Amino acid sequence: MALTDFDLVLFGGSGDLAMRKLLPAMYSRDVCGDLPATARIICVGRQDCGQDEFIDIVNNTSKPLIKAPAVTPEAWARFTARIVYVSLNATDAGTYAPLVEALRTDGAITRVYYLATPPHLFAQICDNLKENGLATKNSRVVLEKPLGRDLASAKQINAEVGQVFEESQIYRIDHYLGKETVQNLLALRFGNILFEPLWRREWISDVQITIAEKLGVGNRIGYYDTSGALRDMLQNHLLQLLCIVAMEPPTSIAPDAVRDEKLQVLRSLKKFTPATLAQNIVRGQYRAGHVDGQAVPGYRDEPDAPERSRTETFVAMKAEIDTWRWAGVPFYLRTGKRMADSLAEIVVRFKQIPHSIFNQPTNSFQPNCLVIRLQPDEGLRMNLMAKTPGEGMRLKPAELELDFRETFKSPRMDAYERLLLDVLRGQLTLFMRGDELEAAWEWVEPILKHWEQDESLPTPYASGTWGPAAASALIGRDGLQWREEALPED
Ligand code: BG6
Repeated sequence: MALTDFDLVLFGGSGDLAMRKLLPAMYSRDVCGDLPATARIICVGRQDCGQDEFIDIVNNTSKPLIKAPAVTPEAWARFTARIVYVSLNATDAGTYAPLVEALRTDGAITRVYYLATPPHLFAQICDNLKENGLATKNSRVVLEKPLGRDLASAKQINAEVGQVFEESQIYRIDHYLGKETVQNLLALRFGNILFEPLWRREWISDVQITIAEKLGVGNRIGYYDTSGALRDMLQNHLLQLLCIVAMEPPTSIAPDAVRDEKLQVLRSLKKFTPATLAQNIVRGQYRAGHVDGQAVPGYRDEPDAPERSRTETFVAMKAEIDTWRWAGVPFYLRTGKRMADSLAEIVVRFKQIPHSIFNQPTNSFQPNCLVIRLQPDEGLRMNLMAKTPGEGMRLKPAELELDFRETFKSPRMDAYERLLLDVLRGQLTLFMRGDELEAAWEWVEPILKHWEQDESLPTPYASGTWGPAAASALIGRDGLQWREEALPED
């Protein structure tokens, strides 16, 4: 479906996200021919600089980050000609005149306000748009994370933004939903007859969801130290993945059909109490170590990090979903910085066969396992038992592999490209609804509260490892292992 002409307004237009992700994503779509000839990107910033000066900043900051499609002088010139820089103070409605002037008033032109700003500015910006007559009925607003820091602040954002825009105009971004494999998980579950009958407690023993990063906190300490892994990754990305794995079949791919089912999952997550929390959650903080052979500093030694910071850079937990489909099936969630590898994957382990008819014991059969790999490579792997060649009947584990890059040679889209296109097309399915956001915060709230009151420190772990030993013990108590621990040594 071709895009209609648009004005995309980026608040925080000279910020990190715009430079690193949003402008490169729009460039890529431009090169692929998706953008209408007269579509424009209006970058809003506080910086009092002229158009040429701003384009210089884009040339120096954004352009070098674009790897594919390669930047050619013609394509870059066409792209930068779309960019309009508007300098204003987002918190002062009286300074919005240059934006009013820059926006085209033709009602047929899609208008999107992308708020790539700290969340405490959302309400003010929305009010200021309204005051300047810019919050039109057919405009859309995109909210970047962090979408609050607890239930109360998330509710406040929803209420305040909701006073200016209808829910159907609000796009809450979780960029993990824009990743190809997440959508492929929907395809796998609901485009095949094979899995759905088995996708339940009778056949699945446990689910592991891991998002591990080799990177440390980088230059984001100011934000990260007040956030931590639970708010930064688990409340949003990991819970969204869990919802896609665990939700009931929606009646269609329509936004509310999908979001209703995700909401049910969030509402069915078993709540932690102080007692269950201590047993089922491990938090860690990285110390100095080696990543890819390079010595790296510990979290507290990162530039500007508070010396006695109690912020967790790792969290692992055992979650449970109280429904007929999932009761008793543990969902192990884990995320961390400065880990041994960078990867994101979902591992669905099926139950052991009930009885061996072969001349080998039941426990020599590796349970079937489906690995859904989001990154670095995108694919699906199914572990099966197969007969080894030759005489006799000896079964060994074997793998069926689907590599999405190999199978579908078509060019890939980065998560932000996909989500920006969806916003511009008005497709809400891959964006969180307000009640989903609140349900996710409601579930993590007892954990946040407990940690706030708890004087103990996160468990230290060496950079370049898979986190504290307590995370292995957490899953080990159930007689299980994290996937990398269960893999045979090379
Ligand atoms: C962001 C977090 O939402 O996701 C970052 O704020 C994290 O801390 C990033 O590094 C990970 O995203 P991806 O797509 O690189 O896995």
